[in-house]
Amino acid sequence: MIVTVCIGSSCHLKGSREIIEKLQYLLQEKGLDKEVELKGSFCMGECVNGVCVKVNDTLFSLCPEKVEQFFEEEILNRLT
Ligand code: FES
Repeated sequence: MIVTVCIGSSCHLKGSREIIEKLQYLLQEKGLDKEVELKGSFCMGECVNGVCVKVNDTLFSLCPEKVEQFFEEEILNRLT
């Protein structure tokens, strides 16, 4: 699974760095850092919906407060 977080300037301002750090932490904590590849990307052209995060090719709109919920629903659920 590939999870791509937009690090374009608009998404950066909305907290993409914090999102990446939280995801990294959660992946390590669950021992999934080999199964899930975390990547950064330039602007995905959806700035109004940022922070933009893709799980494989599916686009999500995320804010730092929702990372835990997103991780469980969209990452853990897809792996099991
Ligand atoms: S900066 Fe993230 S979609 Fe444009």
